[in-house]
Amino acid sequence: MSTPLGKYPGDRTATGIVGLETVVYGVEDLVLSARFFDDFGLETVEHGEAGHTFELPEHTSLQLRRFDDAALPAPPEAGSTIREIVWGVDTAAHVDEIAAELASDRAVTRDADGTIHAVDDAGYGIGFTVTKREAVILEPQTFNTIGSVVRENERAAFYDRAKPQHLGHIVLYCPNWSEQVSFYVDRLKFMISDTLRGSGAFLRCSVDHHNLFLLRYPNTGLNHVSFGVHGVDEIMGGHKVMSEAGWEPTWGLGRHYIGSNIFYYFRNPSGGHVEYYADMDSITNPELWTPEEFEPDAPEALFAWGGYPPPNYRKSYSEVQAEMANLPDPSGG
Ligand SMILES: [Fe+2]
Repeated sequence: MSTPLGKYPGDRTATGIVGLETVVYGVEDLVLSARFFDDFGLETVEHGEAGHTFELPEHTSLQLRRFDDAALPAPPEAGSTIREIVWGVDTAAHVDEIAAELASDRAVTRDADGTIHAVDDAGYGIGFTVTKREAVILEPQTFNTIGSVVRENERAAFYDRAKPQHLGHIVLYCPNWSEQVSFYVDRLKFMISDTLRGSGAFLRCSVDHHNLFLLRYPNTGLNHVSFGVHGVDEIMGGHKVMSEAGWEPTWGLGRHYIGSNIFYYFRNPSGGHVEYYADMDSITNPELWTPEEFEPDAPEALFAWGGYPPPNYRKSYSEVQAEMANLPDPSGG
């Protein structure tokens, strides 16, 4: 999932993009949001009045900022949500080429460190920076099966909690879906892994089956950000901590058909959901992968096993909180 650059031909786009580098949320309650990601298993590297920064072992990061921080790009929806998606790029020359391409039809700004900022065709804040990513290489998983024993004379590995290793993908709602897909595929050279007919595009810029999933929807907004862990046992270690801390598990345990990843989702007070994932398809050689088109209402569009998400899955955190506030008090008071 987080492999050394250069190991596989499919590890970056033709424009040099290698993966998500940083996701920036603008949030209404910094303390609540920070507690959520702490319970989720991310490591804090900086916190103060302006916000909170978490870093993963591969040196990608997640930033929490106040939702009224004037330095942030405009929000795609009301309330706490994603504000900027920064992509890692292999070289400064490639960042310059992306800047030149985007400057042909939109404003591009540049920080002192060379990071560039713009908006995509649906209005999401995007950035590009030379990646600081370092490969994380975990021990292979060992599962015994009938007649094939690979873990001899020892117990399996169990987890009391999760510690995400990889910032994997983001899923965005897009009213102008075709235009948005064309922006990422034709201009930034993201690769198409699979599609939902007329409504969904699983795009990648690395060997991960998807780093960006664009979903046709009436409004812009964040569906989820996803983090890679070692395997299903670590997902359930994370689930234990999250559910005991009172965070709402929204979908799982399941396995997606498209991308093959095992998943568990939790509603995120910073916006949308977060996902623990493991065992995703890796497309190491693009010539050996044939994208498929799936029917959007077929079960395979959502899962191989694990069932459908709940009816409120696409509602925002603030909508669900407002609905809960309107429920009758169970104590009768
Ligand atoms: Fe996902």
